[in-house]
Amino acid sequence: MEALSFGIPCSKVFVMTGSEWWRTAVIYQIYPRSFADSNGDGMGDLAGIESRLPALRDLGIDAIWLSPFYTSPQRDAGYDVADYCDVDPLFGTLDDFASLQATAHNLGIRVIVDLVPNHSSSDHPWFQAALAAGPGSAERGHYIFRDGKGVNGQLPPNNWESVFGGLAWTRVMEADGTPGQWYLHLFDSSQPDFDWQSPWVREQFRDVLRFWLDRGADGFRVDVAHGMIKAAGLPDYTPPADGGSMGGATVLEPGVVADPAATAPYWAQPGVHEIYRDWRLVLDEYPGDRILAAEAWVDPLSHVAEWVRPDEMHQAFNFAYLETLWGGPALRRVIDDSLAAFSAVGAPSTWVLSNHDVVRHASRLALTGDNLQGHGIGPKTVGLPDAVVGLRRARAASALMLALPGSSYLYQGEELGLPEVVDLPDSAREDPTWFRTNGERYGRDGCRVPLPWVGSAPSYGFGPTAASWLPQPAIWGELARDVQEGVPTSTLELYKLALRLRREHGLGLGSVSWLNGLGDAVVAFTNGSVTVVANTGAASITLPAGEVLLASEPLTGRTLPGDTTAWLRA
Ligand code: NOJ
Repeated sequence: MEALSFGIPCSKVFVMTGSEWWRTAVIYQIYPRSFADSNGDGMGDLAGIESRLPALRDLGIDAIWLSPFYTSPQRDAGYDVADYCDVDPLFGTLDDFASLQATAHNLGIRVIVDLVPNHSSSDHPWFQAALAAGPGSAERGHYIFRDGKGVNGQLPPNNWESVFGGLAWTRVMEADGTPGQWYLHLFDSSQPDFDWQSPWVREQFRDVLRFWLDRGADGFRVDVAHGMIKAAGLPDYTPPADGGSMGGATVLEPGVVADPAATAPYWAQPGVHEIYRDWRLVLDEYPGDRILAAEAWVDPLSHVAEWVRPDEMHQAFNFAYLETLWGGPALRRVIDDSLAAFSAVGAPSTWVLSNHDVVRHASRLALTGDNLQGHGIGPKTVGLPDAVVGLRRARAASALMLALPGSSYLYQGEELGLPEVVDLPDSAREDPTWFRTNGERYGRDGCRVPLPWVGSAPSYGFGPTAASWLPQPAIWGELARDVQEGVPTSTLELYKLALRLRREHGLGLGSVSWLNGLGDAVVAFTNGSVTVVANTGAASITLPAGEVLLASEPLTGRTLPGDTTAWLRA
């Protein structure tokens, strides 16, 4: 087998065997509801995705990750699964999945599916059986049912709150019509948590993995991969007010270690790791380098790295990077911390700026109010972003990210520079967060608006009709893919160039060697044959020597303006 050295900025060097494509891959997240609609019902679908795959091949990505398309009542946009081994009719059929996957593979694109193991939908037959079987039954043992507190069990078993707002417990009506036990749901009440201490649950999920691996899936993005085990006794816990919604990937000051006592009894419990070791054995039975990627919102990065030890998962999302504010010192620090933390366990760092749960970075990077990390914004948010500043910073940030060694995740539409849609009418919102907080938190609909493909078509080419499950803003006409195609200054062409140069210069396998002396606001480093200079400040600087290969804004001479990134031949 070919052995490649995996460059890292410290003394450790790991050996990359076989293809290990995931160490350097650019993985593009598709949110099926909003990518492309083939039948005009206003909802994206698998056939729509398949028809648009050539555009992704042209963009230059290596793999797609599909957010859930399984049978689901869609109370949390598909993260409430009622059948792990089928496709919801909203999105198509298993045959459509097979066809999409074959087309992707023919185009050289790998396909990662989303696995949602922390909870099912309350419509899932397993949960319905648990309701019917009653207290003490084996079926109830598949989920987390408990008697309530108080004389009549009328109080929830503990004080845990749902990530989406409100109590994390719901009381059920027993078969005799009396109020009975409570079940745990860290998310919506339609998403009951499994009890992962149950061997039966573990066996079911091994089967689910095999089902998709047998169909040729190249891997799994694992939802809430830090949440499946709960601390014994389910002790009370009050989250810190400033914690991130999923458990707080807050960016710590250098040298500050997360306080273990502050760790929620439902996040990052040590017992989760044996589950992934078990799954890794299942994946390793299959040929072709299949991967597990963890969605684990934990602090600090050295803790996240535990999810990607050699016998566990392959990748973990780098949310500390996503949540880093636009500025030189913070970016340099998080890049150093990421490379050190992941390389210490022989894993590649990942990088990500946007996804379906956060404010799009073309808006987030220009927020000015208290909500700088952008946990949902809407018309009444204080400090709404300036669109011009936001797009400029987003282009600079993406050009910086795509030059870093490791694997990068892109979220559909960021290659078009799409902003968050902040003025959705209340009546259009679907995120359970909005409903569970009585409109206090806007939630995530603003980053999920269906994509514009053709500027002058109904629904901007999202589908064949004007229908779109969330209303699209007029700016979609200017940002549509066809309008940007071939325009050298467009965001789309910037991404294409960055992805081509990244591949040609082997940046994914490279290393970061810092270049100092350009000012505190400047993030500058050499990665192999490319020098990257990102100016996060307002004042222009003079670029060091070297042919300009890419610039996130047009340059005049050797001047690099503020909020601009350039790549130079080193
Ligand atoms: C994380 C997913 O990314 C998010 O969209 C979902 O609501 C929660 N997990 C619950 O599944």
